[in-house]
Amino acid sequence: MHLGACYYPEHWPRERWETDARMMREAGLTRVRIGEFAWSRIEPERGRFDWQWLDDAVEVLHSAGLGIIMGTPTATPPKWLVDSMPNMIALDRQERPRGFGSRRHYCFSHAGYRKQAARITRAVAERYGQHPGIVSWQTDNEYGCHDTVQSFSPAARDAFRLWLVDRYRTVDALNETWGNVFWSMEYRNFDEVELPNLTVTEANPAHWLAFRRFSSDQVVSFNKAQVDILRELSPGRDITHNAMGFYTGYDHHDLAADLDVLGWDSYPLGFLEMFRFTDQEKLDFARQGQPDIAAFHHDLYRGCAKDERWSVLEQQPGPVNWARHNPAPLDGMVALWTLEAMAHGAEMVSYFRWRQAPFAQEQMHAGLLRPDGEPAPALKEARTAADSVEQLGPVGTSIREAAVVFAYDAEWITQIQPQGEGLSALWAVFDSYRALRQLGLNVDIVSPKADLSPYKLVILPCLPIVPDELFRSLQAFRGQLIIGPRTASRDNDFLIPDELPPGRVQSILPLKVTRTESLRPGLEHQGDGWSIALWFDHVETEMEAELVAEDGAVACWVHANCRYLATWPQGAVLREVVTRALDNAGLQALETPDGLRIRRTSNYVFVFNYAAHENEIPEAISGTPIIGSRKLPAASFAVFPAD
Ligand code: GAL
Repeated sequence: MHLGACYYPEHWPRERWETDARMMREAGLTRVRIGEFAWSRIEPERGRFDWQWLDDAVEVLHSAGLGIIMGTPTATPPKWLVDSMPNMIALDRQERPRGFGSRRHYCFSHAGYRKQAARITRAVAERYGQHPGIVSWQTDNEYGCHDTVQSFSPAARDAFRLWLVDRYRTVDALNETWGNVFWSMEYRNFDEVELPNLTVTEANPAHWLAFRRFSSDQVVSFNKAQVDILRELSPGRDITHNAMGFYTGYDHHDLAADLDVLGWDSYPLGFLEMFRFTDQEKLDFARQGQPDIAAFHHDLYRGCAKDERWSVLEQQPGPVNWARHNPAPLDGMVALWTLEAMAHGAEMVSYFRWRQAPFAQEQMHAGLLRPDGEPAPALKEARTAADSVEQLGPVGTSIREAAVVFAYDAEWITQIQPQGEGLSALWAVFDSYRALRQLGLNVDIVSPKADLSPYKLVILPCLPIVPDELFRSLQAFRGQLIIGPRTASRDNDFLIPDELPPGRVQSILPLKVTRTESLRPGLEHQGDGWSIALWFDHVETEMEAELVAEDGAVACWVHANCRYLATWPQGAVLREVVTRALDNAGLQALETPDGLRIRRTSNYVFVFNYAAHENEIPEAISGTPIIGSRKLPAASFAVFPAD
């Protein structure tokens, strides 16, 4: 695994670059990621290129022995370009233009901008495509950051209409499939179809789902255009892109199919603050991150990536600037996060950013260096991490125990039609992941196309659309299966199946959901240490009732190797069901102390202590660690040889 840093030579005087490159090498870094926001310096005016500075920077970094990841600068189209083509700007849901003066202001559907993006990509790739210092390319930067996948512009509307023609062929087919007879929403031709925003009340969910799919496809094709140019002009180099945390605006399985390596940007403290964790978790883990946040994304994106090749393109090295509160990590966490990425199979971890900027939007965002160019605390930790990485060598293959199935359209459907406040497919996956991991298991998060046969336990926490491939793998699957609510409850265009949910999955699981209700917090059916909360499916079935609440409501049904969870997958009820399935699967659950997490590879057993206090490693993990100790101090890790 390589370590690297995100570096912006254009932010610093030329005389400093050699020092930076040397300091990077001294810290154990071998990769440097540059260029992704530098369009205004590469091409200050249309057609006038200034390559000198970037040539120099590439030379300096390469001569220091750093492999360069070069970004295409399309996330930041410069002012002259926007002024020459003002309608390239994306429009928000209220159809207000997203102004110039930050980044990601372009509309993915604007044909003129697509040409410009291809032109600058070609220019950069022609210049550096064959340079020996360039080891890989990053397309654009964080597609979707700042809520930028959907645009409600005329360009998007026109492209959406063409997309619909392609998918439905005739407007009658579209009307029929969407059920447009409801509320007299029928169209006479495709030119009458508008985008689903600004309707009086909610638009047709089928309309929204189509628009979500279209918007995702626009990202994928925008990316693919750059990938094609880079492959032509820079053969043999990996192409990557940096995905985000808890983000589902486009289908990452589709995007990753065109990349060699899928990257993601890991900000555990920022994500803890900004996403759905309890106030207590936000306090307990304020300086470490809730222990499943980083690992969840490592496993999610590994599952999206071609040949499971993935990396961390940005790693938080200190306080960030964008969360509600921005504490500093405990000493040790930067090294811990780095080694945890390694344990999950990362090819690289690159810290964002090398040096804190004294100007502009991210002045308050830490780097490995302070604004004055002196080391910040994380620099030392990068060095510690580099030493451990070197000491361990390859971690080997990951051990397959449990899998959780996730598809992006599942999250789109639960966002479009939540039915109960906040009931999200993504978070059902996160909670399932967390429940398994707290029991000491290795968990893969896989696409519906994945081969399920290596797993002893598979969970479909909430997967409204079950595609053919998955249906076939479920038929062949012999391990333990847990199927959660809303699974197979819709066809590909948002229709309830004729045979009622879970549709054709009833051939595997003899059960029909006849009525569904969502429950406000507090409206619960109490069981023995668990409860039916948030969601309840009433069913007709011959299956055996496995978990029955005091009032007779059934939380879980079982038949052969399958369980149906008739309530929302979370909390104690999920844990109860998972524990029973693990038992049937012959998998050893390992109760870990609070804050401890384990990851097994063919070569090692890694133990991470996310707690702010010392934790003892459970007896079940025997032997003496090669790194660390059995009494693990706060924010530290231990590594054991695999048995
Ligand atoms: C990421 C982004 C970086 C930087 C960073 C700050 O979302 O890709 O460019 O803004 O956040 O944490």
